[in-house]
Amino acid sequence: MAAVDSFHLLYRQVAWSCQGHMELLAVVGALYTAGKGLKLICQSYNLIRLHITPLLLSRTNLARRYGEWAVVTGATGSIAQAYAQELARCGMNIILVDNNREKLQKVSDAINAAHGVNTSFIEVDFCKGHEAYRPIKEALRHVEVGILVNCIGDFLEYPQSVLECPEEQLWDIIYVSVSAATIMVNIVLPGMAQRRRGAIVNVSFRSCCKPAFPMTMYTSCQLYMDGFTKELQSELTSKGIFVQYLTPLCVATKRTFRYRPSQRFPFLVPSPEVYAHHAVQMLGVSHRTTGYWAHSIQLAAACWLPDCIFQLMGRFLQPTQE
Ligand SMILES: NC(=O)c1ccc[n+]([C@@H]2O[C@H](COP(=O)([O-])OP(=O)(O)OC[C@H]3O[C@@H](n4cnc5c(N)ncnc54)[C@H](OP(=O)(O)O)[C@@H]3O)[C@@H](O)[C@H]2O)c1
Repeated sequence: MAAVDSFHLLYRQVAWSCQGHMELLAVVGALYTAGKGLKLICQSYNLIRLHITPLLLSRTNLARRYGEWAVVTGATGSIAQAYAQELARCGMNIILVDNNREKLQKVSDAINAAHGVNTSFIEVDFCKGHEAYRPIKEALRHVEVGILVNCIGDFLEYPQSVLECPEEQLWDIIYVSVSAATIMVNIVLPGMAQRRRGAIVNVSFRSCCKPAFPMTMYTSCQLYMDGFTKELQSELTSKGIFVQYLTPLCVATKRTFRYRPSQRFPFLVPSPEVYAHHAVQMLGVSHRTTGYWAHSIQLAAACWLPDCIFQLMGRFLQPTQE
């Protein structure tokens, strides 16, 4: 074969050898484009169906559908607190689980005053491992839990590399972000299965399909929660229990102050209240969701756009230095 010394020559050679197959190549191209187009249409349809339709319909009576009591862990945290308020607005009685008695009392009183539902709380430190669950089991022994919201898991300020993280902190991360949700599910599940109704919402972080920051521990725990929730869903659907993996992107909480991508487009980073309002609408609707329409669009864009354009957009969305 003659040596190829220029692109032009190579192009002519390839074009010449493809001439006989032009129609076939056109069909392959058309099929590929149609496939991509169809995927885009399906994603847009899902976005409208999941995020817009529930806002137009009247709210489902959550207490009737799942049971009267909701248990929320990490309950004095920004997202959990707003989520509990939203559930109470829908008429659910609330049990708050967290590690600070004064904060729990305050949130409990606030929910009770705002919505007139029954509230109580359990003070536990999930970092204590096994023994943390004794008071929870005791307190929930005679409660018909309809909804469990696992919303604990905050360790953005810890070193995220296994190399840098001291053993004690690794255990804390595992206790808070892996064990807590798993054991809480194990505690409420027998009652839900017996009544053949209930909902479990596992709130976590969704690592985007593009690499973000080096966060080994955070991402690994998220992968556990992802797999755990997926398997739980297939295990429990036949038992009448709804399982949801709720993965917000950035919400304007105290923990994300340093990580917020945008002050130019505030709707991309909703307040916990706005976020919770949208997320509760997704309960019973979607098994895997960001819970908020603008987050779903961001996630879809991240998967569609090439890395370089995505990173450029990220830089454009960064807050301006003043
Ligand atoms: N904020 C976001 O933008 C965002 C984005 C994606 C995913 N998420 C996920 O959403 C969930 C909640 O996030 P958030 O920003 O609302 O977090 P947050 O405000 O920090 O709330 C977490 C709560 O858990 C409590 N907690 C921590 N360690 C505990 C322990 N050992 N025992 C008992 N309670 C403990 C915290 O109490 P203290 O305050 O006393 O420590 C706090 O009340 C997390 O799973 C997070 O990964 C959040």
